[in-house]
Amino acid sequence: MRHIMVLNAKGGSGKTTIATNLAAALAVQGKSVGLADFDPQGSSMAWLEARPPARPPIPGYAAWQGKYRPARNLDFLIMDAPAAVHGKELNALLRKAETIIIPVLPSPIDMRAAQQFIEEVKKSGRVARKQAKIALVANRVREWTRIWGELEEFLRRQRIPVLTHLRESQNYIRAAEQGLGIFEFAPAATAIDRDQWHPILRWVRSKRSQP
Ligand SMILES: Nc1ncnc2c1ncn2[C@@H]1O[C@H](COP(=O)(O)OP(=O)(O)OP(=O)(O)O)[C@@H](O)[C@H]1O
Ligand SMILES: [Mg+2]
Repeated sequence: MRHIMVLNAKGGSGKTTIATNLAAALAVQGKSVGLADFDPQGSSMAWLEARPPARPPIPGYAAWQGKYRPARNLDFLIMDAPAAVHGKELNALLRKAETIIIPVLPSPIDMRAAQQFIEEVKKSGRVARKQAKIALVANRVREWTRIWGELEEFLRRQRIPVLTHLRESQNYIRAAEQGLGIFEFAPAATAIDRDQWHPILRWVRSKRSQP
């Protein structure tokens, strides 16, 4: 089973959006996917509750409550991390996944927070020992704005793979409400978002995302 965690100490950076869309995208591709919610806010669990029964089922685990036992036959376990994790708590989370995605928003406050967070993640045992692979995703990007350019440059400087940027789109808001992923909407309405997601899907299914 592959373990993929979406992680950033900064609140509202898009962890739940990326975790739920990744889970749905892999499920649509026929993979067996579970979703573990480490955030006591329970946003990923709420998304699963809204998920229509006719869609590929995704078992959910309220992992913030402590012990959780994912089904053995899963191809992927996607993990949604809480905000404000540092130190020991962060190290404990990092031990659970071999693939880590860090979303960053185009804002000066988020970029400054991300800088510190990325340094902390790089120093953590598992990442330092190359037992876990990390990658960055720019999220809620409004293309051709100055701050987007600054974010791209900031991400490149981190010396970590930058997978893609996801635009700011109502599709993510609709998907969050309906328990769906953007790959479950009509292709015409989500063509740009699908294109922007393909590098993430390629990466998580490739050796490059595995230690
Ligand atoms: N690309 C996007 N386009 C539009 N809205 C987005 C996008 N990404 C995230 N959002 C919205 O931004 C808000 C915060 O996103 P999300 O809940 O995924 O962040 P988070 O990192 O999980 O937050 P928290 O730290 O509170 O768990 C949500 O309302 C979500 O729908
Ligand atoms: Mg969240």
